[in-house]
Amino acid sequence: MIKTNYLIIGSGVAGLTFTVKIAEKFPNKSITIVTKGDEDESNTKYAQGGVAVVLDTKEDSFQKHIEDTLIAGDGLCDESVVEMVIKEGPKRFMELILWGANFDLDSQGNFDLGKEGGHSEYRVVHHKDITGYEVERALLQRIHQLKNVTLLPHHFAIDLITEHHLNIQKSESISCFGAYILNEKTNAVITINSENTLLASGGIGRVYGHTTNPIIATGDGIAMAYRAKAAIKDMEFIQFHPTALYDTEVGSSFLISEAVRGFGAYLRDKKGNRFMLNYDERAELASRDIVSQCIDKELKKSGDSHVFLDCTHLNINDFKNHFPTIYKKCKSLYIDLTKDWIPVVPASHYLCGGIIVDKDGRTSIKNLFSCGEVSRTGLHGANRLASNSLLEALVYAHNIFKYLSKNNTKSIQVEIPKWNDKGTQISKEHILIQHNLNELQALMRNYVGIVRSNNRLTKAITKLNVIYNEIEDLYKTSKINTSLCELRNMINVSHLIISQSLLRKENKGGYYNIDNFKFIEH
Ligand code: FAD
Ligand code: SIN
Repeated sequence: MIKTNYLIIGSGVAGLTFTVKIAEKFPNKSITIVTKGDEDESNTKYAQGGVAVVLDTKEDSFQKHIEDTLIAGDGLCDESVVEMVIKEGPKRFMELILWGANFDLDSQGNFDLGKEGGHSEYRVVHHKDITGYEVERALLQRIHQLKNVTLLPHHFAIDLITEHHLNIQKSESISCFGAYILNEKTNAVITINSENTLLASGGIGRVYGHTTNPIIATGDGIAMAYRAKAAIKDMEFIQFHPTALYDTEVGSSFLISEAVRGFGAYLRDKKGNRFMLNYDERAELASRDIVSQCIDKELKKSGDSHVFLDCTHLNINDFKNHFPTIYKKCKSLYIDLTKDWIPVVPASHYLCGGIIVDKDGRTSIKNLFSCGEVSRTGLHGANRLASNSLLEALVYAHNIFKYLSKNNTKSIQVEIPKWNDKGTQISKEHILIQHNLNELQALMRNYVGIVRSNNRLTKAITKLNVIYNEIEDLYKTSKINTSLCELRNMINVSHLIISQSLLRKENKGGYYNIDNFKFIEH
């Protein structure tokens, strides 16, 4: 058993930012980061557009950013959280610079500001079109210099340890004592006992198969928290990004940043119509929920598989300079941006809901904190404003750090049983995992997509139960591995998305059900 003061699950912007802060403030405390796969694999690494932050107060203001966030969230944001995050933003962003992250400057030496859907001003700081890669690089470099941090890549968190696992008197409240962790290289399960645990395990995009998210985004943190009985909310608000590069294969889709539309690109149908003009006065720069719903509607009307992003009227040298990775990707597919349009389609991108936390990042479970995409802070409401999520992670990592600096958790001596896998065997039915994963992803795309109905949601529950029973049987009888645990987690997450969708009786932001009374004809 490993004992540590702080256990961090996940090495994206949320987990690493908190770690840098707590490790530097308390050099005598031990911090253990576990992360599945390679240390840098995360949604963070793929963030393109940047960080939304108010730096230029001549044109922009906190108030404008607050209003844009509230409008995008469609009435469901927590206003005090929105104000807190946006006002803290500049300070937290400047820390990234101090830690060595580079952001693009304009010809006057000021931060170059981009624009994305739903923003009324240019306020998105970025590093070319690979902002997340740069943030992840800088944070990991800092982490590797800290002597009191142990970073364990290829270590998969299976379950949180709570009273449920211990032979102690159950109390009213639930506490977290650490987590069971699978070493993905040796298949050994280790116990990590910690005074405080931070879940920073990111999003759920893979549940849909077609997604901008990398393979790590399987909703493990939400599933673990759900099994531990933490409060979880707003799971129906899945954000579909309007412009993932169209691909006939199911899997990770390359993102064409919304900043490309901020740069002036147009959405067109195959006949060349700029259809967004028919729906919203902001046209291509309406908020994401609206643009994705409109594309979905156009595709259903036309029977086409995708729409197009037209950049042919833009200055190609400026484009290349701002979006070198997107330019290169298109070139590799023989898309000449001076002549050709980019085929794009919406894909699942971001989870607005998650584990409920207060402003200090505390969950409903004692000594369990959550930060980043896995958490539900109230900032995003029914639809996240573009580039507000890196910002949210930076601000909440700081708030959790501040809270824990003042409130020392006392170490509780408990006897934690070892992981019990008696009676399980190495399964010969590995094929069942892939088969059920394909079924689950098809089910979520076809029955729980951008536009939902009560009929499809109810059918989805019945179909999900069949997959659930098959995989629970396999889980109880097999030696565990990452893909089995991930599938089990995605089933739990799908259940939460469907059941919370059925509870929502009004269309809001990213949630759109044709049976709800407020039928919005875009
Ligand atoms: P992540 O960065 O996803 O990190 C999660 C970590 O947890 C990973 O290290 C993962 O391996 C680990 N993990 C997960 N499960 C387990 C487990 N069971 N055991 C151990 N480790 C585990 N947001 C913006 O604000 N601006 C942008 O420009 C932007 N662009 C984006 C572009 C793309 C293509 C994508 C996919 C997202 C984008 N987002 C953007 C969203 C943003 O990147 C994410 O919301 C944010 O980076 C999440 O950070 P995080 O630290 O919470 O999670
Ligand atoms: C993008 O660059 O389009 C993604 C931005 C975000 O998800 O915030």
